[in-house]
Amino acid sequence: EYANLASILDRYKEKIAAFPKEKGWMGLDLYMYQGFWYSSGDIFSIETTLAVQETFQVHSTDIYLATQPKSGTTWLKALAFAIVNRKRYKKSTLSTHPLRSANPHKCVPFLETDIAKKTPTYLPENQPRLFGTHMPYIALPQSIHDSGCRIVYMCRNPKDVLVSLFHFGKKLSDRLRTEMSMDEMLEVYTKGLTPYGPYWDHVKEYYKASTEDPTRVLFLTYEDMKKDTANKLKQLAEFLGYPFTEEEEANGAVEEIVRLCSFETLKEVNQHGNFREGVPNNTFFREGKVGGWNNELTKEMSQIMDDITTEKFQGFDISI
Ligand code: A3P
Repeated sequence: EYANLASILDRYKEKIAAFPKEKGWMGLDLYMYQGFWYSSGDIFSIETTLAVQETFQVHSTDIYLATQPKSGTTWLKALAFAIVNRKRYKKSTLSTHPLRSANPHKCVPFLETDIAKKTPTYLPENQPRLFGTHMPYIALPQSIHDSGCRIVYMCRNPKDVLVSLFHFGKKLSDRLRTEMSMDEMLEVYTKGLTPYGPYWDHVKEYYKASTEDPTRVLFLTYEDMKKDTANKLKQLAEFLGYPFTEEEEANGAVEEIVRLCSFETLKEVNQHGNFREGVPNNTFFREGKVGGWNNELTKEMSQIMDDITTEKFQGFDISI
């Protein structure tokens, strides 16, 4: 275990100094490692990623929920948590259900933040362990693959991700960041200069892994989950090894989880309080829509994004 945070930051100082460095999203210094950009610091950073790679101990029953930031991480965490714990918390309508009072990010920790920072050997009382991560596929510890752990990836239309990330940045009260215009946002985004960018490469790696071994990696889209939440939820439950029985389906267990994890319910629960310092709980619930970019990007901006997406996703059957 790490005695304190300073030791993590110190430990990788020299290594990081050798990585390519560029200014990116909100003026942050980003470091290129294994083809992706990372910020530096104590959360979601190059340091905590390296710490996970070096020290994290995987269990074969672990479940990893992977996303690019703003692609539906919070929703996916809530859904997976509700699925695997549905025997433990029988009635999701009761206030005793953790998702009725806590941010989904409190129910499911982030690998390269909560865990890397505190206890790389963290063992929750409940199995299976659920983790969220923004780490690219290539950066995941090899032991995750060797242990055959299940990985769920959720991707989202890049224009909606861009707009969501733009607004998210505005809500963070963090003196390290500088505000950006939408034009500047588009520029860093298309260059891949956002934490865990380039977006397209992140998506493609997980997509490839899911086609190579669909029993180990499930590839979902935010758009499909929105369109047909009940059926996608059932697919997710099956993949995770927690399929709904006929009896459960007849009793409305699927719809119950759909409601519990809906944007409206979670937004209501997370109206107040801070997730962590400078990050209010409500930051994670803005509009929750598909195609909201339409009101925020000009035709030209949209075209630039579409051209890149068409080019980068050529040969990939990814429709978002
Ligand atoms: P918008 O900013 O477009 O509204 P992440 O969870 O990866 O940080 O992504 C946040 C985005 O997911 C935000 O998108 C947020 O509103 C949306 N979101 C959060 N909870 C959701 C839910 N239960 N259902 C649908 N979308 C949700």
